[in-house]
Amino acid sequence: MRRFAGTLRKGWQTGICVWNMNIPNHVAIILDGNGRWAKAKGMPRTYGHTKGCDNLEKICYVARDVGIKYLTVYAFSTENWKRSPDEVNALLRLFRRYLKKCIKSSEENQMRVKVIGDTTAFEPDLQESIRRLEDFSKDYDRLYFQIALNYGSRDEMTRAVGRLARDMKDGRIEGPVTEEMIGSYLDTAGVPDPDLLIRTSGEQRLSNFLLWQLAYTEFYFTPVAWPDFHKKELLEAIRQYNDRDRRYGGVKE
Ligand code: IPE
Ligand code: IPE
Ligand code: MG
Repeated sequence: MRRFAGTLRKGWQTGICVWNMNIPNHVAIILDGNGRWAKAKGMPRTYGHTKGCDNLEKICYVARDVGIKYLTVYAFSTENWKRSPDEVNALLRLFRRYLKKCIKSSEENQMRVKVIGDTTAFEPDLQESIRRLEDFSKDYDRLYFQIALNYGSRDEMTRAVGRLARDMKDGRIEGPVTEEMIGSYLDTAGVPDPDLLIRTSGEQRLSNFLLWQLAYTEFYFTPVAWPDFHKKELLEAIRQYNDRDRRYGGVKE
């Protein structure tokens, strides 16, 4: 069990004492509610996405400070292409900007960045930005940050099974098929499963996120919209995670 490694003052600033908390190794977040947050302020949905993006940058620093080792965020799903072309284009523009800025924050956070999802659907320049960021940050090891872009869990599993079947047919691997083998074909290969899943903005569903990897993850749902989800809210989620009893199907005496 890993304990919080920061200073006592950091906990006091938020009103939550994190001094003796068990920090989840891997936190996954469904970043939801940008659109409704903006609408409530009389602003266009894209304003919410811009603020959501700013918040993502901040939460990486918080995750690093708190001692989270893996952070995975759901930023664009395989289903999000159904939105209006205006909104999709605004999101793609934001990702372009964000991925470039992320070079600097990856260095500051000593954070390795990996994009999961089917990135082949993106324009070549966006794919190049992803490659550059992943390559630039590949040796950092303080925080492992996965961004899910054009990600859908069923799509990920379909791609994985396709490659696995091909490799088996061509004799590159041999049966029997195991859980570990399937895991190694997923986009998240080599990354431990999330301990804590957070979804902001009130919805209580997975929306096609990490269906395989969340098999034994603790879920935390909050009505707070993503642009308002700051350090205090993250620490509250971790505090509640500390009250959970993870039994993995067993019995604790
Ligand atoms: C999350 O916020 C960001 C993306 C899915 C890209 P939403 O855009 O889903 O915001 P709401 O849920 O409509 O408020
Ligand atoms: C899930 O949010 C996807 C992301 C946060 C990227 P959505 O807003 O797209 O999900 P639904 O439509 O409410 O299920
Ligand atoms: Mg939403």
